[in-house]
Amino acid sequence: MKTTNFGRVLAALVVAALAIPLDSAQLAFSRGVSEREDSLSHEAHKLGIRIGSAVSSSALSIDTTYAQILGEQFSAITPENEMKWAFVEPQQGVFNFGPADNEVLFAHQYGQLVRGHNLVWHSQLPSWLLRGSFTNEQLADLLKHHIFAEAGHFRGKIWQWDVVNEPFNEDGTLRPSIWFNALGPNYIADALVWTHLADPHAKLYLNDSNIEGLGPKSDAMYALVKNLLAAHVPIDGVGFETHLALQFGLPPMIQQNLQRFADLGLEVSITEMDVRMVLPATPDSLARQASVYAQLMQDCIAVRNCVDFTVWEYTDKYSWIPGFFKGQGSADIYDENFNPKPAYAALLDALENAVSHRHHGK
Ligand code: XIL
Repeated sequence: MKTTNFGRVLAALVVAALAIPLDSAQLAFSRGVSEREDSLSHEAHKLGIRIGSAVSSSALSIDTTYAQILGEQFSAITPENEMKWAFVEPQQGVFNFGPADNEVLFAHQYGQLVRGHNLVWHSQLPSWLLRGSFTNEQLADLLKHHIFAEAGHFRGKIWQWDVVNEPFNEDGTLRPSIWFNALGPNYIADALVWTHLADPHAKLYLNDSNIEGLGPKSDAMYALVKNLLAAHVPIDGVGFETHLALQFGLPPMIQQNLQRFADLGLEVSITEMDVRMVLPATPDSLARQASVYAQLMQDCIAVRNCVDFTVWEYTDKYSWIPGFFKGQGSADIYDENFNPKPAYAALLDALENAVSHRHHGK
């Protein structure tokens, strides 16, 4: 009893002395765990690749197992929602950076890098912005100020910013979003320039879905980044979301596609990978899922500029899939009880094989 009280008092003193805000001091990770030798990140490090996961700040604050595995296995994180506009500025001029700050704090405690996600998107916008009646000039101004406020807030703490998220339609035309409609196609270049001014050291990315293989959408992204480079607009990389579905199979020519972007001198990153399936999962579907994950890892390893391989939540416990794709799930590399699935072993195998063959040379 005495010892417990003493411990509590000591902990309170330490917290007070370090002036850690109470909400971050209470996070599940506060006891600290170091990276394990048999981890995904440990193997990937030998190849110059970061292994990331999307992270939920609410899970991080209540689920110690979630936080522990995140700290042990991964070398990068992406806030899954907490840096999106609707979260950081729910009312005009009222900022809420706390949850994302906690995630950044967690990352720094574990030597992880942070992917900022995202600054400009058509989705998860606050309703004051969607419902307001703003002129085009006002919208341009709002976007610029948003980028300066957010990228400025996290200045120096972000490895890669998804500056513009999902700019394309499936056919490769630009998506007619609030930003496209107000600023025209140049909103992308403007956003990149503003972000560079707000945080000169962050790597600036365009991120999109369904651009992993060759096709009209990846052709459009390729043409866009080529033009941006020619115009000396600051851009460092392209993010390939890689939300795959077992029933649709692999997109065509992934490695060749990643390579053509890398050949422009850009980084490429797998930014949101998951492989959903029609439920229930079976040993056979889990084995096929494992080989899809392994294939993508092999493609990333084979492309010298592939610097990051991030999964969109590592555990089925917090996957977005069941809520968005009816009857589908089991998309992640750990199950709902934090048991590693065959996909986890397949990723580790792919990394270990590459290390032992020294193919990568990064
Ligand atoms: C998803 C999140 O996972 C969900 O929690 C949220 O409700 C909706 O957004 N492409 C993206 C991500 O770039 O931001 C999306 O994340 C998934 C698709």
